[in-house]
Amino acid sequence: MKFYLASLFPEVFDQLLSSSMLLKAKKLGIFDYQFINIRDFGLGPRKQVDDVPYGGGDGMVLKPEPIITLIHQIKTLELNLSVILPSPRGKTYLQSEAIRLSQSKTNYLIICPKYEGYDERITHYVDEVFSIGNYILTGGEIPAMIIVDSVIRLLPGVLGGDSSSLDESFQLDDKTKEYPQYTRPTEYDGLKVPRVLLSGDHQAINHWRNQHKIS
Ligand code: ADE
Repeated sequence: MKFYLASLFPEVFDQLLSSSMLLKAKKLGIFDYQFINIRDFGLGPRKQVDDVPYGGGDGMVLKPEPIITLIHQIKTLELNLSVILPSPRGKTYLQSEAIRLSQSKTNYLIICPKYEGYDERITHYVDEVFSIGNYILTGGEIPAMIIVDSVIRLLPGVLGGDSSSLDESFQLDDKTKEYPQYTRPTEYDGLKVPRVLLSGDHQAINHWRNQHKIS
């Protein structure tokens, strides 16, 4: 699976993509990524990418031409490409979306808007518009990383045990949250690990875990 990440600040992705599970997934060849600088598609000698909003208002709006040219260009490289636009106006991004994207045999281009927003005509060239929650961020880079991270960790071979991603929060219904976990020591500052988890009785442990999921 390949992610194309289009941004005016593609360097912000570097650290997250070159650490931990995402680095492992890249090294194993499970996933790959490429940065695209939206500025490279800017118009004129000043590589203009944004303009003032029609109708007035604060801030600048991403122009359609650079983004749409960029989408067409990546589509000539990738026959199987799904284009994602993070936006507070989009459909809420839930675990079920991460599962769906991870199971789809396609590559992804994520367009990260900046400034006050983007020209709405861009959405005609996009397959999915996702909001990662009911709050406003300064751009699409953090939502893009949330999408990449949540999808890549679900790809076979990325997580440790086979059941690591099966047993976790939101897996079945976007609501149920995972049971709490403990590790050594058995007691810290008077706080004890629940005895049943030390018992070795797998039936009792499963029962305790089911009881401690939050719906
Ligand atoms: N861009 C700014 N805020 C956002 C949000 N909540 N979700 C997706 N993209 C955004």
